[in-house]
Amino acid sequence: DLPVVRTIAELRQTVSGWKRQGFTVGFVPTMGALHEGHLALVREAGERADRVVASVFVNPAQFAAHEDLGTYPRQEARDAELLAGAGCDLMYAPEVAEMYRPGATTTVSVGAPAEGLEGKCRPHMFGGVALVVAKLLNQVQPDTAVFGEKDFQQLIVIRRLVRDLDIPVEIVGSPTIRDGHGLALSSRNAYLSEAELTVARRLNGVLAEAGARIASGAAIEEVAAEAVEALLGAGFSHVDYVAVRRADDMGVFEGGAVDAPARILAAAWLGKTRLIDNLAI
Ligand code: PAJ
Repeated sequence: DLPVVRTIAELRQTVSGWKRQGFTVGFVPTMGALHEGHLALVREAGERADRVVASVFVNPAQFAAHEDLGTYPRQEARDAELLAGAGCDLMYAPEVAEMYRPGATTTVSVGAPAEGLEGKCRPHMFGGVALVVAKLLNQVQPDTAVFGEKDFQQLIVIRRLVRDLDIPVEIVGSPTIRDGHGLALSSRNAYLSEAELTVARRLNGVLAEAGARIASGAAIEEVAAEAVEALLGAGFSHVDYVAVRRADDMGVFEGGAVDAPARILAAAWLGKTRLIDNLAI
């Protein structure tokens, strides 16, 4: 059975034991309800380090009051089995009270890369993500930490966090894992009805087509507006954004055309479920 620790002290004891033996440590932070997308990150970490820690912590700081903190899927025993099967050596599953001690007042604000897109639609989110990831990296002290491109802006925010705070860890981005229809795997896909799932599977195709047109010179704003219409036409109930950003820092392309590595990103709703996806252009 996979060893599970719930306190920073127990975590540090195991990890420092590994380090004394000369092992390198890889780390994959998650909120649980694990699927193949998470497990691919664990395998990636296993290829880059001798020992792998995965955290399972549904982080209250990154949910707004109206969001799905209370109903976010929790299935820790199953998560532990899946992690063990993917080559994880230790699961770190702290209680909220271990992560957020009474009297804590420090916040972490990353600035520009966290301000548009997800940061605009969910203003509380990247503060909560940056805080918990900074804490997790200090708790685990891994050599390498792996994050999914599925949450592309999050990956860029974390690269900047680690750079700006001089956290000694290598951040690795890992490609998005999709189902056979191109839908990015997500714990929140569990909320979708059969009919919504059919619509959800169109998101990736609409982005791919828009990205291809932008790559061949079409104007960003026009193509993005058409992609929003295509998503609404496909059956999405609302589209928060379809946008094109610089892949390195989430900066905007002035002038309407891409002249550097770019990403097309979208967030759209199906009823009460919010889906995000992105592709390289
Ligand atoms: P969570 O949504 O559980 O995702 C954990 C990690 O898995 C993230 O790096 C995410 O990008 C990656 N991931 C999710 N679905 C994926 C897919 N289909 N393909 C590849 N990678 C995928 O992201 C978070 O948790 C939290 O914000 C966290 C970083 C843990 C901080 O609380």
